[in-house]
Amino acid sequence: MNGRVAAVPQPSKIIPPDEPLPPLRLIRTVVRNPIEAWPKPVYEQPLYRSRFMGRETVFVSDPDLVRQVLVDQADAFIKAETLRRALQPVLGDAILTADGARWRWQRQAAAPIFRPDQIRTYVPAMIAAAERRRELWLSRLGEEVNVAQEMLHTTFDIIAETMLSGRGGIDVDKVEKGATVYSDSISWVILLTLLRAPRWMPYPGRGRVERARDYLRAEVERMVAERRRSDQERNDLVTRLLAVTDPETGRAMSERDVVDNLLTFLVAGHETTALALTWTFYLLSLHPEIAERVVQEIETATQGGSLRQEHVEALSYTRQVVQEAMRLYPPAPVVVRAAIRDVHLGNELIRAGSPTYIPVYAIHRRHLLWDEPDTFDPDRFAPEAVRVRHRYAYLPFGAGPRICIGMSFALTEAVVILATLLRGVRPSLRPGYVPELKQRITLRPAAGMPMQLQPRTQHTVAEPS
Ligand code: HEM
Repeated sequence: MNGRVAAVPQPSKIIPPDEPLPPLRLIRTVVRNPIEAWPKPVYEQPLYRSRFMGRETVFVSDPDLVRQVLVDQADAFIKAETLRRALQPVLGDAILTADGARWRWQRQAAAPIFRPDQIRTYVPAMIAAAERRRELWLSRLGEEVNVAQEMLHTTFDIIAETMLSGRGGIDVDKVEKGATVYSDSISWVILLTLLRAPRWMPYPGRGRVERARDYLRAEVERMVAERRRSDQERNDLVTRLLAVTDPETGRAMSERDVVDNLLTFLVAGHETTALALTWTFYLLSLHPEIAERVVQEIETATQGGSLRQEHVEALSYTRQVVQEAMRLYPPAPVVVRAAIRDVHLGNELIRAGSPTYIPVYAIHRRHLLWDEPDTFDPDRFAPEAVRVRHRYAYLPFGAGPRICIGMSFALTEAVVILATLLRGVRPSLRPGYVPELKQRITLRPAAGMPMQLQPRTQHTVAEPS
């Protein structure tokens, strides 16, 4: 049903080909939408080997084997060449793209600002940004907005406010346009890597990507230079990165490393959460009864008053809704690695150098792991259901040492934004619109998420059940 008008509100999904695609179709599909090239066995088999031009890519879908790759034998894998080629030109050799000691140092430097006590201090900024968006929405009731774009703006405000203590002069629209050009070029990068073409090879959009990157880098460089000159004390990521020293050499981070890391946090820290929220709004529009349950929970927790930090932890069903939306639409639909030596996964041998993919989107829809996997059901994330499920059946944030450093930040932020926006507003999907799933590095609705902002009638506050 991808891309067509549906009669019943079944959420959009990818229809995998039964068999591996022949080479030319594979190339066309990889450029258009790589996730559509994953054949059915990726969804069904514990481990699947795909071959292209004599080279093997291994898809690991069985949770026990996933654990081997991401946790137990994590030291036998590094980030794959596709990821490096796609991200290093923009993000350099920072926390997301580095490996080994270089990665460890950067991870340790950033870790303290993601501790639970720190995350609590970010909640007021999250609530403020969400309330600003809500005010805007309330002033536009009856209009149609692109919720995908709306969420990008909201989460960018939050990441800039909490990590950089303000967005400075950064023009978010310009950044987003650059990010779109950039992501649209990613599939070319994936293809060129598959074809083993050299890194300098031109591809459509490359010039525009480089201009967008130069703009964002220049803005962040300017911000860092201002902060070096300023004697104002701030407890944010910029301060931490400027203060950190390499335990081996005792040297401070170079200007370039600081900028690369800030860019990484700006990029990794807002689009993913924006997509989680976009897909959540989509699913809630298809399931008004679940949206009602969420609103009821919010009204009960806040007793009809403003949302405050202490309410956020009580919003367990709201959180389950976000978790379930990320099962159906994981913002990062695949985690990519490459083996650095021969590795045994159960009875299977992964040869040194083999790209090894954890196809998160496919794992989240495996019939072996999930009942009616295409159905939206937030009760799957009730504590008793989570307890009996395999830990590695659900991987929106990855797992092991490279697990998303912003996981708690993102979940808190998503709950805050949802809880704030759903009060008073009911975003309703444009009738007949079926979003098409598109994989770049993230999983997006190809043509946005047009939704009409309808008023939500006031609720009476129910007693907690
Ligand atoms: C719903 C939102 C998010 C999702 C789905 C998500 C997903 C992921 C995934 C799957 C990884 C692991 C990649 C791998 O193993 O190759 C990752 C890593 C990372 N994420 Fe997130 N992320 C989200 C939000 C955030 C936020 C809010 C931040 C920062 C504030 C952030 C910063 C990072 C960083 C820096 C890494 C690299 C960590 C490392 O390699 O040590 N992410 N994310």
